[in-house]
Amino acid sequence: MYEAMGGHETFVRLVHRFYQGVREDEVLAPLYPQDDWEGAEQRLRMFLEQYWGGPTTYSDQRGHPRLRMRHMPFAVTTDARDRWLTHMRAAVEEVGLEPELEAVLWDYLERAAHAMVNTAEPG
Ligand code: HEM
Repeated sequence: MYEAMGGHETFVRLVHRFYQGVREDEVLAPLYPQDDWEGAEQRLRMFLEQYWGGPTTYSDQRGHPRLRMRHMPFAVTTDARDRWLTHMRAAVEEVGLEPELEAVLWDYLERAAHAMVNTAEPG
């Protein structure tokens, strides 16, 4: 999948576009490390590259992903999830993958985002 999607270049573009949206989002932006946006961008990029069959740099540097656990410090509400997905959708569309690849990627991202919700708080 990694190569079919366009390899490193695709993931750089995807995650960069995603964070442009997140940084402008009044709910999401405050959750992120304000002094390390670049690091956050790099961590998500490395994780997605690894997930889709690219280099395993993420786990080499960060260990086992355990993403739900790593998100526990942040209140991932349904609103936060929907905003996350909105910015990710814009990024996926901008990257412009073949429809079949895009559908598989999007299906994963949607499921992963739904699984990350960790608070029943509304909003
Ligand atoms: C890290 C928020 C969903 C993957 C983070 C961080 C925040 C955050 C605030 C810390 C930034 C950092 O320093 O790296 C959210 C919110 C989500 C969401 C509000 C809404 C559903 C997801 C999903 C994935 C994901 C669906 C995977 C497909 C990651 C990864 C990290 C991360 C890989 C870095 C973990 C680490 O190594 O420390 N997320 N996230 N996130 N997120 Fe999310």
